[in-house]
Amino acid sequence: MKPDFPVSTLRPGREGLELEGVPLATIAERFGTPTYVYSRKALEDGYAAWQSALARRRALVCYAVKANSNLGVLSAFARLGAGFDIVSGGELARVLAAGGDAAKVVFSGVGKSTDEMRQALEAGIRCFNVESEAEIDRLDAVAGELGKRAPMALRVNPDVDPKTHPYISTGLRNNKFGVAFERARTLYRHAASRPNLRVSGIACHIGSQLLDPAPMAEAAEKVLGLVEQLAADGIRLDHIDLGGGLGIRYRDENPPAVADYLAPLLRVFEGRSEELCFEPGRSLVGNAGLLLTRIEYLKPGEERNFAVVDAAMNDLARPALYDAYHEVVAVAPQAGSERTYEIVGPICESGDFLARDRQLAVAPGDLLALLSAGAYGMAMSSNYNTRPRAAEVMVDGDAVHLVRQRETVASLFALESPLP
Ligand code: LLP
Repeated sequence: MKPDFPVSTLRPGREGLELEGVPLATIAERFGTPTYVYSRKALEDGYAAWQSALARRRALVCYAVKANSNLGVLSAFARLGAGFDIVSGGELARVLAAGGDAAKVVFSGVGKSTDEMRQALEAGIRCFNVESEAEIDRLDAVAGELGKRAPMALRVNPDVDPKTHPYISTGLRNNKFGVAFERARTLYRHAASRPNLRVSGIACHIGSQLLDPAPMAEAAEKVLGLVEQLAADGIRLDHIDLGGGLGIRYRDENPPAVADYLAPLLRVFEGRSEELCFEPGRSLVGNAGLLLTRIEYLKPGEERNFAVVDAAMNDLARPALYDAYHEVVAVAPQAGSERTYEIVGPICESGDFLARDRQLAVAPGDLLALLSAGAYGMAMSSNYNTRPRAAEVMVDGDAVHLVRQRETVASLFALESPLP
């Protein structure tokens, strides 16, 4: 068994793998499979790393809710005083239901609806990260109707290459996010002239799963240059939001520690008084969670051996979608020799695989843990093939809290009706 797992609170124990000392086998017995299992300690350690790296700076960590929006997860961060980065009215409702502070919420996304703007203005969020000229005008109009001034930042696109997967790089010129750098000054002047807006900051986010701090530092330099030009135009900003993106280890990646990732950024803004905001998602929750699944069948083949498990691409879409790698470990490996397996689910698609070419010593009925599944796992799950979504539990010391019940089949079509 490998000595250290990407999921930091996972350890081998007498009854197989344990998370914070709770055997995964016990969790499977109590809650069934497939089940997402999170570690509160890992979440809290992750947040503490950001806090301590930013301790000497006016700064706010806004957890990117999209990575994992379970109320249990959100409430853990809310109790630590975290802010939140949301991309929908639904996420705002979740944050408030989990006890989050609206005054620490930033609202990102290219397609905010009028209703979502109203909802966020009424809740009193900290800032709208606006992504287009049309959105500036809509936000001004909606705020005017409500008799409010909307706090806003413009999300600029610094056009740097984050060197990550093309689907998750967002700061290049040719994608839909943010406004072009060259247009930003004009748009800021326009926004500053609107009666119902309060221009308060600037935002950027260049991509996700970043393993090298250099592109982010390059983006920060560019943003700082713009902040100085804006000051010359009489537009003084109160905060600078550098987005999320710090990567994690899935396999053999070597991401920088939070403090090392932030050090070059903090140097760029040294001596400046603006509040720095960050929107980490994956780096806070990715390695605080795993997906626990049971082997239904072993299917030896001519060319390949398949382990058919009870989790599928509807539970964890990342392998099918991005060819993403998630470590697979047997919770209690069998004695005897390993074989090479393709780990697949029950869904009727060849794309329904969770992992390829893994060496495992397992038998039917054994439990497997798919690691590093805390971010963009449950959050991207679906009900394809009318599969009820997995349960979610949070290990918290000796306690295990059920933070989302397994869905029932009846609930899946409760909103539908046959033709009259
Ligand atoms: N802020 C903004 C504006 C974002 O678009 C994102 C992620 C974040 C913050 C959080 O980024 P993080 O710290 O998690 O890298 N589904 C993909 C990832 C999509 C990320 C989208 N934006 C995956 O499973 O890898």
